[in-house]
Amino acid sequence: MLRAERGDIVAYDVDAIVNAANESLLGGGGVDGAIHRAAGPELLAFCRGLGGCPTGSARITPGFKLKARHVIHTVGPIWYGGRTGEDEALESCYRAVAALSRERGLGTLALPAISTGVYRFPLARATRIAVATMRERLAAGDFWSAVFVCFSDDALAAYRGELAG
Ligand code: APR
Repeated sequence: MLRAERGDIVAYDVDAIVNAANESLLGGGGVDGAIHRAAGPELLAFCRGLGGCPTGSARITPGFKLKARHVIHTVGPIWYGGRTGEDEALESCYRAVAALSRERGLGTLALPAISTGVYRFPLARATRIAVATMRERLAAGDFWSAVFVCFSDDALAAYRGELAG
């Protein structure tokens, strides 16, 4: 089942919350900063051992002090106008998250609006990609429930509109 809610992703008690990280996996601002603050320093220590993550890919870690058992860190594309493969890279993030869920037998996920903050990917375009990809992977049985956690009313409206479609 797919749904959208307004909230703070660190509060979600699910098998995995998804982090919108950067290629270093060494933390940052936005949702990345919130997740590292809530998980505690062990998350950064664990991430140091991962050797980074390329854009469009994902890595899984324990959740440490978070309610969520795991964090799936994925690196979204920075928006440069839409002619350098940004759509494909963003879709690849959602596919990589779903593939790790299947691989690790995770059922419940919570996801932020990847790339739509600091990375400036247009919200409506990103939301279409997120919902279409996760709908396909839900039907394929990669996981059984995902909530799109929106940090603004605009994001919530975009996701609710796309999910109603
Ligand atoms: N819970 C849910 N969503 C959140 C939270 C939160 N606590 N904090 C921010 N968001 C939302 C933002 O409002 C935005 O809609 O997450 C979405 C993604 O925004 P960013 O966190 O800025 O991530 P992104 O645009 O993918 O940029 C990634 O930012 O924080 C750095 O280290 C990160 O370099 C990386 C870059």
